[in-house]
Amino acid sequence: MKKTINDLFVYTSGSEKNKAILFVHGFPYDHMMWKEQIKEFSQNYFCAAYDIRGLGQSPAGNGQFTMESFVDDLEIIINELQLNKPILCGLSMGGYISLRALERMQEKFSAAILCDTKAEADNNEGKLKRAAGIKRINDEGLAPFAKDFITNCFGDYFKQNKKKELENIIEASSKFDPNGVKGSLLAMLGRTDTTANLERINRPTLLICGEEDKLTPPSVMKEMQKKINNAEYVEINKAGHMTPIENPEEVNKAIKEFLKNHNL
Ligand code: MLT
Repeated sequence: MKKTINDLFVYTSGSEKNKAILFVHGFPYDHMMWKEQIKEFSQNYFCAAYDIRGLGQSPAGNGQFTMESFVDDLEIIINELQLNKPILCGLSMGGYISLRALERMQEKFSAAILCDTKAEADNNEGKLKRAAGIKRINDEGLAPFAKDFITNCFGDYFKQNKKKELENIIEASSKFDPNGVKGSLLAMLGRTDTTANLERINRPTLLICGEEDKLTPPSVMKEMQKKINNAEYVEINKAGHMTPIENPEEVNKAIKEFLKNHNL
């Protein structure tokens, strides 16, 4: 079912009576990156996925976003959908939003699944890269930036064997509002570091990382695992940064086992 909440595009699937999983996508993608997980888990869970403000079908408005405003949006969606302690599942930028949401209000969630993400804020080099991205979009339009950024997210297997799928993803993101994409870059550039909160997370937590992830590599996520109480870590074969798209079978299996083991 499609809904609009606080101007944001929200997609839900499955029975509202079931436990909810709330999916938060990465940059510069939209809720469709979770389509294989929604297909699988809506059989036994109430799945909700939305387009982050400025991306996909959620309008950019004034294009001025912060990680805080993204977490405010997440909270409004939880409240409006009346989700009772959903399982929070975020990838990369969706993971930054999730990690900050866990810092602000972990009592609202029953568990966390953090895919291909990290708690550290951008360092100076990272901030300059974001600035260069914004300049490039201003100078050349969104398409060349989207093509290079997205191509770099995927591992070799997907790039060699799923060329058409990759082209479609790039094409879809190239059509986003450039002001929304730049707004996300600024929000990521300005986000706080959530590392200090990792040891305070007291929800069952699953960390998922693609073996070829260059943006948030396994070494970074294994360090994160050490800091979160009893966190579980699963590395996904034949996948880069976009594990739910690149190897949905292994990702779904890892999530299923995690949910089963924790009676969720
Ligand atoms: C993402 O997938 O959301 C981005 O790679 C995050 C980032 O650029 O830091």
